[in-house]
Amino acid sequence: MTRSFDATRPVPADVIEHLVALAARAPSAGKTQGWHVVVLEGGQTAGFWDITLPQERRQGFVWPGLLAAPVILLPLADPQAYLDRYSETDKVATGWGDDVGAWSAPYWTIDTSMAIMTLLLGAQDHGLGTLFFAVSRNEPVLRERLGIPARLDLLGAIALGYAQQDVVRPGRSAPRRRRSAEEIIHRGRW
Ligand SMILES: Cc1cc2nc3c(=O)[nH]c(=O)nc-3n(C[C@H](O)[C@H](O)[C@H](O)COP(=O)(O)O)c2cc1C
Repeated sequence: MTRSFDATRPVPADVIEHLVALAARAPSAGKTQGWHVVVLEGGQTAGFWDITLPQERRQGFVWPGLLAAPVILLPLADPQAYLDRYSETDKVATGWGDDVGAWSAPYWTIDTSMAIMTLLLGAQDHGLGTLFFAVSRNEPVLRERLGIPARLDLLGAIALGYAQQDVVRPGRSAPRRRRSAEEIIHRGRW
């Protein structure tokens, strides 16, 4: 993840479109593709930060270069799209079309997460840096300001742009050891 961006290098609009088109190739349950993304660029990102990281909290903020990201993407999952899709004739037998509580797993979150990961990998291929991060403050205000419908789940935010090469400030979790494949794999059975 990148937490310091070059404010002087915008991301071309066609690259953003390409990354979203790539993300749309991610697998989705019943090919529902129930996700959306709000794209904030240029001056619009300042509005995002004003709400989610108010001025009085910026003093001690450890990654000031994060606010220089030229693009913020807000991925949104649409549970209703899944209810609608699973009410169609080929899926109605699942019984999942009526109530999100009936689902064995929240496929809208899973699918949107897969799309996000595809976008992050695509960005890496384009030499771009990204940070996926939580919108942990003032989400209701942000949603109101951007007109995000209540039915959509905001999964987080993605900062996107060219990394500021000379500023390397690792995240707090960075020293944690990366688990090996052997630790993760359970061959044949748990
Ligand atoms: C669901 C999720 C939430 C995250 N939230 C934050 C966050 O709020 N702030 C942040 O700096 N990084 C956040 N991260 C990034 C992780 O800290 C990062 O991926 C992890 O430390 C591994 O670092 P690396 O991806 O650079 O290897 C989040 C990642 C995920 C998947």
